[in-house]
Amino acid sequence: MIVPANPKTIAQAAALIRDGKLVAFPTETVYGLGADATNGEAVAAIFAAKGRPRFNPLIVHFSDTDSAALAARFDERAQRLAKRFWPGALTLVLPRSEDCPVSRLACAGLDTIAVRVPGHETALALLTETGRPLAAPSANISGAVSPTTAAHVETGLGPKIALILDDGPCRIGVESTVLDLSEETPQLLRPGGVTRAEIESVIGKLPSEAPGAESDEAGFGGAAATEKPRSPGLAGRHYAPSVPLRLNAAAGPVRADEALLAFGANPPPGYKTMLNLSAAGDLAEAAANLFAMLRKLDTGGFGSIAVMPIPGNGLGEAINDRLRRAADPALAATAGNRQIESRSSRQAQ
Ligand code: TXA
Ligand code: MG
Repeated sequence: MIVPANPKTIAQAAALIRDGKLVAFPTETVYGLGADATNGEAVAAIFAAKGRPRFNPLIVHFSDTDSAALAARFDERAQRLAKRFWPGALTLVLPRSEDCPVSRLACAGLDTIAVRVPGHETALALLTETGRPLAAPSANISGAVSPTTAAHVETGLGPKIALILDDGPCRIGVESTVLDLSEETPQLLRPGGVTRAEIESVIGKLPSEAPGAESDEAGFGGAAATEKPRSPGLAGRHYAPSVPLRLNAAAGPVRADEALLAFGANPPPGYKTMLNLSAAGDLAEAAANLFAMLRKLDTGGFGSIAVMPIPGNGLGEAINDRLRRAADPALAATAGNRQIESRSSRQAQ
């Protein structure tokens, strides 16, 4: 059931969560499917509702850095990043603290935990009112496009959720950046709402990705060749609409059975249906529109979706990452499996 977020419904949602139920709530990135992170059964219900593999750990949300510091060990880099970007779209993967209250299932049995303080008034109010950390993946069926409105959540998971708090469309529109600081070398596991450059301005250069990916104006070329290890969550189909995506549709005409997902002022000719991520060529606007427009075109009965190139700088890194994954789930599956193997062998040592 969708209800508008207000103090009364937030209190109701908090009571449901303390009772072990699932509640969907807005964040500045995407809507999350929340449960009490300290309650193993509630966390198990998240995996069941999403059809999510249990080896894929969840992000745990906190109301402030001090509460997050009870669950995870913050080194100096993590402290500085939290100070600069929280509340906000950055998730830090850190070693679990010794007396971490969060269910091991939420972390998929790993010795690390992904923590974040979301930059959204309703999310923070819910966390404070609940008085517990919230495990919350994006509120979509595993592998589908993440929800940026309450209606998206209802479409995918409606009957499985006790309550959906509606607070309008998400401001950023792509998920948080996931940065692994559990080892000496930081690793960008997932580009997202906080850009690589913003992170580097605080902790210095991150290990590089495929050469040329940043400067590749076409967006896809360099990044598609990236073989950097992935977060466990990037295994399998992700962000995938049901119709194929044709990336880099810049020059040639759009095919008769294709819908066009455009970017910028000069869409290629021939389209019958077009949605423009940002006619002004603004990456923040494009990120905010990305998932909603993919969903809309996905249900339009088209043979495929032609996507114009998006620059790879700033938020463009996250946008291109999601588009690449949506276009080629097989690629994501291979990369993800490699990461899982390397992680579990590391753990066994
Ligand atoms: O913006 C977001 O991050 C949204 C909102 C709701 O906060 N949440 C979200 O969660 O996108 P989810 O579960 O869809 O993505 C979490 C990502 C996955 O790729 C997962 O594998 C990774 O974070 N992750 C979680 N814990 C991890 C850990 N201990 N080590 C490595 N990666 C981890
Ligand atoms: Mg997700």
